[in-house]
Amino acid sequence: MREKWSSRSAFILAAIGSAVGLGNAWRFPGLAAKYGGGAFIFVYFIAMIIIGIPLLMMEISVARHTRLGAPGSMRTLRKGSEGIGWIAVSNSIFVSIYYAAVFAWIIMMFFMSYKFMGLTGNTEAASTLWLDTVKATGDFSGFDIISWPVFGCLILAWVLCYVCIRNGTTTVGKVVKFTVSLPVICLVIMAFRGLMMPGAMEGFAKLFIPDWTALADSNLWVDAIGQVFYSLSTSMAVMFAYGSFLSSDSNVVTDTVIIAFADMFISLLAGIVMFTTMAGTGMLGDMSASGISTAFIIYPQAIVKISDSSVFNMIFAFIFYFCLITLAIDSLFSMVEGASTAISDKFHLNKKKTTLALCINEGIASLIFVTGAGVAILDTVDYFINSYTLIMTGVAEMITAGWFFKTTKILDEINRNTGKFKAPSWWFIPSIRIISPAVLIGLIIWNIITLLKSGGIYGAADGYPLWANIVFGWCIIILSIMSGLIVKLVVKIRSSKGFTEDDRSWDDAGYS
Ligand code: PFF
Repeated sequence: MREKWSSRSAFILAAIGSAVGLGNAWRFPGLAAKYGGGAFIFVYFIAMIIIGIPLLMMEISVARHTRLGAPGSMRTLRKGSEGIGWIAVSNSIFVSIYYAAVFAWIIMMFFMSYKFMGLTGNTEAASTLWLDTVKATGDFSGFDIISWPVFGCLILAWVLCYVCIRNGTTTVGKVVKFTVSLPVICLVIMAFRGLMMPGAMEGFAKLFIPDWTALADSNLWVDAIGQVFYSLSTSMAVMFAYGSFLSSDSNVVTDTVIIAFADMFISLLAGIVMFTTMAGTGMLGDMSASGISTAFIIYPQAIVKISDSSVFNMIFAFIFYFCLITLAIDSLFSMVEGASTAISDKFHLNKKKTTLALCINEGIASLIFVTGAGVAILDTVDYFINSYTLIMTGVAEMITAGWFFKTTKILDEINRNTGKFKAPSWWFIPSIRIISPAVLIGLIIWNIITLLKSGGIYGAADGYPLWANIVFGWCIIILSIMSGLIVKLVVKIRSSKGFTEDDRSWDDAGYS
């Protein structure tokens, strides 16, 4: 018997918990600052309606029907497309390995928040708190330098992750009640404080009043679409897994719209926090599009300038990093859950043991980030996965659903058990079949051109050396693409010991 969500709200909160994460807290505000505030928000909104929501609906509804994770779901659409599901699983494994490292840095900053007590007005010291503790060299040297505080926090990160998902939907359903509501409360508190600061309105205006000239910058479009993808947690096996635990009478249309709009709302709330505090501390011009430097270098400088009271600033730091902890944890465990569901489905394994094995192995892999080279490696892996594999996976999923399967069957599945509010075919079908794949393929090509222009593969990801781009970029992409073949090989070996593959078609797999 497949595990199930205990209630509708458990599913919605878990999906929101996955979608709402560090991408909302710092990437969205950073991009809005870079690309003319409201102009970026406008494009983001359109991309979400045209590309993000249809893909999210497709993933959730197909998995609800098949009651299988990403590879199994893709397989029922088209036999040869199982590999696309495995690429999605690889994405979630690779991203969770480095997301755990960022999570560990956040935990570390949370524990170090008391240090803000003695730093009032001292922006210089605030900006080096994180850098000095992670011992980052800024390049690919320093593999022998280990930050023990990060090491400790990383172990804690994985333990927390395992504890949250050890019993699948049962524990996840309980945890997300807190990890979704607490960050919203923290953000509201911080937004109030931000809005009360003198000059805050300047920040507010910069966030919402569009600078339409920014629309001429093609990078705005590329980044907005990329952000929709990353933020909704699509192409990562997560939404397939979560959808597969739904009961047949759930309402995919309403639930998906709630998830997507909650995600956008929390991005805007985080935007208000960032823009008003930065404006209030006179640092509006310092906002960076890079999330890591915003959270660990720039924002700490703002924290020490928030008030003259060192205790107040310290409390603000605690709330800020606590908020990030609660934002990140449910995104992290959703990725492990996505991978664990896919693997245990495929090989008929005990899910709890699979989850534990994944946490241990991913934990070991993530130890690379406690070294001096950790930040540079993270930068590279993040760049390659976000610019290429995630988008490629989305395109491949859509092409399978739009061209190799009867798309109307998916639309019927989406609209099953809905009331008056249905997904219209004039919106869903063209999006899945033509508009989204075309836009996304254009985006990949654009990213490749930009990469080549920036000095060829030598120059990728902040001018890091070629060998590093090959090892931490291209090799990971190749490994992801080949993951389906690796699984095939394992199946072959296991078949000789009597293992049989689940080979159900769409019509055999479903509830109906
Ligand atoms: N959506 C998360 C964020 O915005 O931070 C990141 C993420 C989580 C991406 C889970 C993908 C995923 F499967």
